[in-house]
Amino acid sequence: MKRRVFLSGLLGAATASLFARASLAGEGAQGISGMADMPGMAGMSGMSGMDHTPMPTPAALAAVDALPAGAPLANLRVLASESQQAGVFRATLIAQPATHALLADKPPTTFWQYDASAANHDGPVIGPRIDVREGDRVEIRFVNRLPQPTTIHWHGLPVPPDQDGNPANPIAPGATHVYRFTLPKGSAGTYWYHPHPHMQTAEQVYRGLAGPIVVRAADDPLAAWPERHLFVSDLKLSADGAIAANSMMDWMNGREGQFVLVNGAREPRIDVVRDERWRVWNGCNARYLLLAFDDGRAFAQVGTDGGLLGAPREGVTSLLLAPGERAELIVRAGQGASTARLLAAQYDRRKMAMTHGSLPPTPVATLAQVHFGSQGDIANPTLPAQLRPIAALTPSNVKKSVVFSEAMDMHAMHQPGASKLAMPKGMRFMINGESYDAARITLTSRRNEVEQWTIANQTDMDHPFHLHGTQFQVLAREADGKRIDETVLAWRDTVNVKPGESVHVATVQREAGDRMFHCHILEHEDLGMMGTLRVT
Ligand code: C2O
Ligand code: CU
Ligand code: CU
Repeated sequence: MKRRVFLSGLLGAATASLFARASLAGEGAQGISGMADMPGMAGMSGMSGMDHTPMPTPAALAAVDALPAGAPLANLRVLASESQQAGVFRATLIAQPATHALLADKPPTTFWQYDASAANHDGPVIGPRIDVREGDRVEIRFVNRLPQPTTIHWHGLPVPPDQDGNPANPIAPGATHVYRFTLPKGSAGTYWYHPHPHMQTAEQVYRGLAGPIVVRAADDPLAAWPERHLFVSDLKLSADGAIAANSMMDWMNGREGQFVLVNGAREPRIDVVRDERWRVWNGCNARYLLLAFDDGRAFAQVGTDGGLLGAPREGVTSLLLAPGERAELIVRAGQGASTARLLAAQYDRRKMAMTHGSLPPTPVATLAQVHFGSQGDIANPTLPAQLRPIAALTPSNVKKSVVFSEAMDMHAMHQPGASKLAMPKGMRFMINGESYDAARITLTSRRNEVEQWTIANQTDMDHPFHLHGTQFQVLAREADGKRIDETVLAWRDTVNVKPGESVHVATVQREAGDRMFHCHILEHEDLGMMGTLRVT
């Protein structure tokens, strides 16, 4: 990894002069807060002695056990339809600040959350579940009561481009906008909604703006299974109860808090007394979820982002959900009582260090405490061998290439005031050699033409690729000259790409207009790892 060493070396030098410049220019302390939590920066603290400017201490974080654990898994709120008409789902969503008392003896924490009315609620911060059916006409009146412009993006759904909450269509603070779309046949699946404003997506999501969408099919083969929803989010909380700002390391690697929450709570308890269908969302800014039970027990995977697989995958013991991804599982109650922890097991996504090499992987996190055991004589339904037919997309010979790259721009980092910006200058995350520019069309496609896209990761860390407005099929993965064909035919809108890897997908857009594609580590998206696809 010569390149990483080279970049790290440069960055180390640049950082040193950044500190010097900050004190020379009298920029004060808070501009460089966040530097102190960079591994490899410990030795820098001596510098503060030279000019009597005290080093900023990043706000201390709340202890990892500061939030209670073990409460029964909360049900997510459901967004009620205001429409009496069959086939029409009409509702209001308000994005607004809301306080929740989290830490004892500390002021309540102010989140931003989606609510159906101006009144806040006591339940989870997660936005209400939008539960709709194939064929439904959806009309969501959205009110922005945030201090920033925002949009709502319907992640994974085939909605018209001008209804998809693109950064080019911001809703100003105080403004109202109605999003309208119709859910086509075949769109049943597990989706979510979240903001997508220009350069403020990461912050709006980490402050709490995200919610689940379930689209149901009339002929759902798993309708008989009781359903459970696990919406996973990440929380970085200061000891004073405030949501912590992003540090430089958060921007570089994507933010991971000290808490990983399921339906807004730490390590909830789940009682599985009969076989259940779980829908799991990775709504974290950057945390990868390698789902596994700590006792190694198996589950079945029955669905991906865009709905059911052709056939269940039995005997799965770990399943990676990159940020933005979803899955449907069958979790079985089993015979006799037992318990297991549902983990985000260790996965090394090669987070960058400021010195040489990589940071150690994120520690294992417990997502939930699960208590298993059939109670009485419950006859569990038998999982069908086939779930639904999935037709393979056959790409034409039209090919597109998406290349992820990164660079540290020393000049930008040296600009006066650069270190005081909410978003650091000088870290560049790019697609096809360019950071996002609203005025640039990165790629152009023709509607209804199935294309083969190759997403190549030329950086040293994992990046999850996401494309708006459609579901694609992974064809193969290629690394070190070896090509591995994908064996599972599935509809996805997000796929992880490892360093040095190329992922080949088949994809098609059905409507003309502009679509975004980007890394779903939201800090990277905000820092420019995003492009525009113009569909003509
Ligand atoms: Cu969930 Cu453009 O993303
Ligand atoms: Cu999306
Ligand atoms: Cu990324």
